[in-house]
Amino acid sequence: MNLFLTKLFDWSYLFVVKKIVFNTPPDKAHDQTLKFAKWSGKIGFLQWLLRVFTKYEKPELETNVMGIDFKNPIGLGAGLDKNAAMGECLENCGFGHATFGSITGRQSIGNPKPWFHRLPKYQSMMVWVGLANKGVDELGPHIANCNDKSKTMNVCASIARTNDKLAADETEGIADYVKSFVSLKDSVKFIEVNISCPNTFKGEPFTTPKSLDKLLSELDKVERSIPITLKMPQDKTDAEFKELLDVILKHNVQGVTIANLRKDREGLEVPTDWNGNLSGTPTHKRALELVTLAYEHTHNKVVSESSLMIDGKNVTPDNGKLAIIGLGGVMNSDDAYEFVKAGADLVEFVSALMYKGPAVVSLIKRGLVKSLKADGFANIKDAVGSGVSGVSSGASGSEDGAASSEDSGVSN
Ligand SMILES: Cc1cc2nc3c(=O)[nH]c(=O)nc-3n(C[C@H](O)[C@H](O)[C@H](O)COP(=O)(O)O)c2cc1C
Repeated sequence: MNLFLTKLFDWSYLFVVKKIVFNTPPDKAHDQTLKFAKWSGKIGFLQWLLRVFTKYEKPELETNVMGIDFKNPIGLGAGLDKNAAMGECLENCGFGHATFGSITGRQSIGNPKPWFHRLPKYQSMMVWVGLANKGVDELGPHIANCNDKSKTMNVCASIARTNDKLAADETEGIADYVKSFVSLKDSVKFIEVNISCPNTFKGEPFTTPKSLDKLLSELDKVERSIPITLKMPQDKTDAEFKELLDVILKHNVQGVTIANLRKDREGLEVPTDWNGNLSGTPTHKRALELVTLAYEHTHNKVVSESSLMIDGKNVTPDNGKLAIIGLGGVMNSDDAYEFVKAGADLVEFVSALMYKGPAVVSLIKRGLVKSLKADGFANIKDAVGSGVSGVSSGASGSEDGAASSEDSGVSN
């Protein structure tokens, strides 16, 4: 019965709502979607309907990553809900976690519009927002409130460097990150540090090993009880990517989120006068390669400084194993499962919500359970890294004895 309702919801999005949305200019459609989600979040009956139409919970999908319990491994990636307007809708359509932001130290108005172009042929968006958001002073208390209200969905805040004319040198950039970090560290379940937004006029200065090292050294000084992940760029060579991972392994970092938007337009028909970078299906192949690379490169290693201060005690989640969050072009459960087998502990998406609609969350979870059963895995954790040859998979299989969900020491 529940699958029938989910499919009905799916079809009504694909054959009715999507047609209306895709006939509206993308910037306007984005604004209206956020307004509708914010308004409907206050209507209890609509939220109840959303839950009824999408509900799907299974113990096979429950997991513990970075010391946090997740109802399921599926999350919303950063960028769609920069000002945390859709919390109720996201929770009620069944996300295990949602990333709000990216949030910056000062309010950012973003780049000149248009911010979006659709590329339906590639199930992709050309994104040119430039980190527009209300800034951490206004968003901090609001996000804390979202986190308090959220019962089943973990709230994550993505922080980035302010994209405005006041952005100055490296020291100023680091101070901007630290401000947002300190302000949000007691209000969410985890923080994602976005070093890889390709749409800013200062570029991505913290994606070189030296400057990343400086940024992480400052963040290390902040005592905290929650884990952090780093949002990684997608347009790096394997060697450059490994260098960044090596820097991360020396600091107090618990995970990596792989990867951000794609800059390279090669092989794609994209009008040259469109500003921005690509999301969706064109990001999938490289993101998957980078997740595999990160898994192979880090699964036997321990993050040397991983330490959270919880109830006056030092705790090292997952015994210092770096968690991996995979995203990029996840449109269905097969794409999500590919990330898991490549080494991702959690999987996120953004573009699928626009191209497939909210029912996709439930459908992906169903598909994952089917794939786990077909491959003989009792829980999602057991499938992590199972597709990477020459590397033992799952939490219990890693050679450094990374902790299982029961003994990882932290819980939320
Ligand atoms: C509309 C939009 C806005 C985005 N804004 C951000 C952002 O503010 N911070 C960030 O780290 N990533 C941002 N991203 C990148 C996504 O988090 C993600 O890395 C990328 O879109 C690939 O995932 P997808 O194929 O599921 O969309 C944005 C993506 C989209 C589509």
